[in-house]
Amino acid sequence: MDFRVSGPVLSALLLSLALCVSAQAPDPKQVRIACGSNEAFNTSEGTWNADEGYIGGSVGNITAEKGKEAEFTYLRYWSMSDGPNNCYNITVPNGHYLFRFFFSFGDADNSNREPQFDVSLEGTLAYSLKPAWSQVDDTSYADSLLFVDDGTATACFHSTGHGNPAVVTIEILQLYDEAYDLGFGTGNHDYLLNAVARVSCSAVKDVYGTTIGADPWGGDRYWSADFYKYEGTAVDTIQTTERIRNSNIRPQFYPEAIYQGAVITNYGGSVSYAFPIETSQNYSIWLHFAEIGGVSAPGQRVFDVLYNDEILFPDVDIYALAGGPNSALILNKTLLVDGKTLILKFQPKIGGILVCAIEVYQVVQREAPTKASDVWTLNALKSPLGIPSRMGWIGDPCVPQEHPWDGIDCALDNGNWLIDGLDLQNEGLKGTLTSDIASLVNVDHINLNDNLLSGPIPPVIGTMQNLVRLDLANNKLNGTIPESLGDLVHLKELFLQNNQLTGKVPANLAAGPIRGVTINVLGNHDLCGIPGLKPCNPLSAGQIFGIIIGSLCGLGILVLCGYVIYKRRENLARAHKIMSPREAPYAASHTRANAQVKDVQLTRFGSFTEQRLMSVSGGGSAPQSPRV
Ligand SMILES: *[C@@H]1O[C@H](CO)[C@@H](O)[C@H](O)[C@H]1NC(C)=O
Ligand SMILES: *[C@@H]1O[C@H](CO)[C@@H](O)[C@H](O)[C@H]1NC(C)=O
Ligand SMILES: *[C@@H]1O[C@H](CO)[C@@H](O)[C@H](O)[C@H]1NC(C)=O
Ligand SMILES: *[C@@H]1O[C@H](CO)[C@@H](O)[C@H](O)[C@H]1NC(C)=O
Ligand SMILES: *[C@@H]1O[C@H](CO)[C@@H](O)[C@H](O)[C@H]1NC(C)=O
Ligand SMILES: *[C@@H]1O[C@H](CO)[C@@H](O)[C@H](O)[C@H]1NC(C)=O
Repeated sequence: MDFRVSGPVLSALLLSLALCVSAQAPDPKQVRIACGSNEAFNTSEGTWNADEGYIGGSVGNITAEKGKEAEFTYLRYWSMSDGPNNCYNITVPNGHYLFRFFFSFGDADNSNREPQFDVSLEGTLAYSLKPAWSQVDDTSYADSLLFVDDGTATACFHSTGHGNPAVVTIEILQLYDEAYDLGFGTGNHDYLLNAVARVSCSAVKDVYGTTIGADPWGGDRYWSADFYKYEGTAVDTIQTTERIRNSNIRPQFYPEAIYQGAVITNYGGSVSYAFPIETSQNYSIWLHFAEIGGVSAPGQRVFDVLYNDEILFPDVDIYALAGGPNSALILNKTLLVDGKTLILKFQPKIGGILVCAIEVYQVVQREAPTKASDVWTLNALKSPLGIPSRMGWIGDPCVPQEHPWDGIDCALDNGNWLIDGLDLQNEGLKGTLTSDIASLVNVDHINLNDNLLSGPIPPVIGTMQNLVRLDLANNKLNGTIPESLGDLVHLKELFLQNNQLTGKVPANLAAGPIRGVTINVLGNHDLCGIPGLKPCNPLSAGQIFGIIIGSLCGLGILVLCGYVIYKRRENLARAHKIMSPREAPYAASHTRANAQVKDVQLTRFGSFTEQRLMSVSGGGSAPQSPRV
């Protein structure tokens, strides 16, 4: 048959092919860090970056003898002087990632003792390395699945006071966003999945995805050998070289090799697996099957999978569910688990059981990060205040909740953390208080009592409207008390005693006690203006000089005035002697006392001269002094 493809159809085909190819995501983002190494190198897994420039801490030699260590000779560790929190902060595109760590230890603290410490990822506590962790392979290797939503993959190492935290490798390997969807509706953005076990049931040794030809989008998952098998009857393992359908597909890309081996039992035999867990936590279980055991029809192998006595997956018929032999089947379930061990039992109903692989993840609710502006502000205050490294101001201030920064108080507000107080009393801080502090708008108490802070009190503190208690006592603060502090309407306690503050206590603060505000400003040598302080005597030498000059001038003027008055009186007296009042009207109108006397005299003489006087008054002219 002649089969021709027309031009438009061909281009449509080519276009859809091109779309297909471009829809295939590019290579996944993969960052591999050889901690402590000062040069990059390649292994079969990929390129390992040196970690200089990522972080502080020190470089040590690995001395323990374990798996990967053939390739890795160095580790990075953090001693007491680095402080309790240290983070790798790695820029990656936002997305879903597998974070993997290889922990070991060396002679970094000269004792070659196994350290115990915590690790947090994106602010959520992921691992607590407990005593004897280094004896267990799957603790030496730890991995978690989580989203990076802030452009930076952050892994922090938290000291618990038992030796120096140390790490050999960090890998951050991208997965598909929809991989391992637990079906909770939010993708897995709100959860972190800690791998408890990822076991290849027929394997005798641990393998990496890359060594068994896995797709790079599978995150190079590590599959451990079958050391979780707990009890079983008539158990065997089988292998096949048959191709397995539906393996290595989106979104999880399980390698085909995982399905080419299995644990089986003969007729009626059951198998149990035991996984160490923390009680009362949610665990997500992923089971992998492929009918590679010679079953040729549905109904020939049927079994239940139980957790304790509860049936998780009833009537598993791999052949029926996967649609034939040599085809991958994945079942998953998330459940709340009690006790210290999660025991999964494969219990046959017809024939024996078969299982290829088991994954168990602890589902950890992600911590909300601290309000970004508060984090920014604390980082801006850190160096001016002189926060010592022992206070651990690295990473997120409030989370993980197990390892907050020293000296800060956090509050959960509508599901977000924010800073509501600073408690930095007696920390030996030698720095200064900068205006940035006012950006911590939710803070209601600041306690910096008993440090060595110097410089001024930033007036913007007066804009921190939630402030109830401000204690800056027993420092070396100088300058004046900002008037703005009087604007703090909720302020109840203000402690500024024993600093080097100067000037007048602002009137609006001096009146504080009336409003029920407790104020202590004693012990500031050059402060004045309220009872208990010296009186305000704000006179400089210049001012005193001015006052003396002023007083002298005043005195001079007084003397001059006195002289002038004396002289006038003298003149007046002389005028009285030589002039009649009419001839000296000025003197008459300015000597009221004399006029009174004259009235009396007039009254006295009135009886004799009434008629004459009346006529004189009626004339409206100045009374005529009678001649006595
Ligand atoms: C590692 O391999 C990459 C290519 O995959 C190459 O570009 C790079 O130069 C190699 N690095 C070293 C240190 O060999
Ligand atoms: C690692 O060990 C070598 C020799 O064993 C030594 O020369 C070197 O200083 C050590 N490096 C560190 C960082 O301790
Ligand atoms: C377990 O999951 C359930 C349902 O998602 C949730 O309500 C519960 O808080 C979780 N418990 C823990 C301890 O994470
Ligand atoms: C996991 O199980 C849930 C429900 O049990 C289901 O909705 C989801 O599709 C499963 N995921 C995969 C990848 O099979
Ligand atoms: C990580 O580094 C970036 C830039 O180097 C910085 O902006 C960010 O605050 C850092 N994050 C943490 C948690 O340290
Ligand atoms: C406050 O003290 C600093 C030194 O700690 C000094 O430089 C500054 O001039 C002082 N300011 C005032 C107003 O006394």
